[in-house]
Amino acid sequence: MTVSLDTISTLAQHRGFVFQSSQIYGGTRSAYDYGPLGVEMLRNVKDSWWRSMVQERGDVVGLDSAIIQARKVWQASGHESVFTDPMVECTNCNARLRVDKLEDPDQCPNCGKRGTFSEPRQFNLMFKTHTGPIESDENMVYLRPETAQGIFINFENVRRSARLKLPFGIAQVGKSFRNEITPGQFVFRTREFEQMEMEFFCHPSESNQWFEHWVDARHRWYTDLGMNPDNLRIRPHDADELSHYSTGTVDVEYLFPWGWDELEGIANRTDFDLKQHIEWSGEDLSYFDPETNDRFLPHVIEPAAGATRTTFAFLIDGYDEETLASGDKRTVLRLHHRLAPFKLAVLPLSKKPELVEPCEKIAAELRKRWMLEMDVTQNIGKRYRRQDEIGTPYCITFDFDSIDDHAVTVRDRDSMAQDRVSVDRLVDYLADRLD
Ligand code: GAP
Repeated sequence: MTVSLDTISTLAQHRGFVFQSSQIYGGTRSAYDYGPLGVEMLRNVKDSWWRSMVQERGDVVGLDSAIIQARKVWQASGHESVFTDPMVECTNCNARLRVDKLEDPDQCPNCGKRGTFSEPRQFNLMFKTHTGPIESDENMVYLRPETAQGIFINFENVRRSARLKLPFGIAQVGKSFRNEITPGQFVFRTREFEQMEMEFFCHPSESNQWFEHWVDARHRWYTDLGMNPDNLRIRPHDADELSHYSTGTVDVEYLFPWGWDELEGIANRTDFDLKQHIEWSGEDLSYFDPETNDRFLPHVIEPAAGATRTTFAFLIDGYDEETLASGDKRTVLRLHHRLAPFKLAVLPLSKKPELVEPCEKIAAELRKRWMLEMDVTQNIGKRYRRQDEIGTPYCITFDFDSIDDHAVTVRDRDSMAQDRVSVDRLVDYLADRLD
């Protein structure tokens, strides 16, 4: 179903997925805070990415590089000179706006006046700060605007220490910062966000083939995690859209409530970055192939996704409302079990100690393997609705019969079908469905 931005952001805030940052001080649109459910889901998205990009492959290793790097990194990468967005200022209301995002190039969307825009100028998106106690030009550093450069500058460290042969990839997940002129659409575009990037180094003659491989693999990752393929598309960049480092990029786009927009970019970065770092650092970052006696600069295919943006897309995609046979309505987050914040809810039918105490034991056992919530408040119907709304795949109910038959009812979120399962078999029953 199509869900509005308002509905999804209200659910996210009420249920504890995402809060506005600095909310008690009026809030800022620059960043958001991930609440108890959001932090689980975001971690699940990042873990699922890592699992498919690193753990399940033999040719990709991980890295966690620093956010603060030498300024030269960003001079070499080109970010200092060209990582800009075109900006205009409205001379009537002083709003600063991204030219390429204006619906009408002559009308200010903030005050509605026409013909009030200044000449466009290029605005650099990197945040600046200083290291050490003195705020001088020599101490000026940037917060990284992408995780990718941390990978390029460690290419030789990683290759040598992990004894890697081409082709291989280096993956990294972490925070990036961009001083976006117009953050917006909830967590879609923020100034502080998380990325999941992988640089895949290969022989130049194989770059097209790896590009196709990664486009395919990345599309499949989203659909394997339950994203509706009708809401996903691959869109090649036009020549005038290409980043300064890329000879070819496709975007994986998602059908957001406001239309198609980018989830991930897959770019052929060629040898641009290694070449630049060789030039600026003087280090030899070329690769020697002992089999062919060839020395060359590898080319790079880069799948670069946003972790926070992807989490948001999965929330939107999972959202559903349905009317039950009883006429009641329910909201369900049909999240893949790998992404759901809680895999299970353990629900004693009533607050009576003879039901609550065995439930605590069951919950303690299940917690060793899965994130779960134990909930004793309200009637069981309301508790099911709450778990449906936060995407919990299975609810386990312990009722008065459970005391004698040592069995519980397991309710499936999507079908609402219920199975009676003996407590002895519960872990195996759930492992078949959740692992
Ligand atoms: N290293 C290449 C690179 O950074 P990008 O297309 O600029 O490429 C990759 O960024 C991904 O990072 C985007 O597809 C998006 O998912 C995410 N991203 C970029 N800017 C963002 C922002 N301001 N807020 C949230 N996510 C962002």
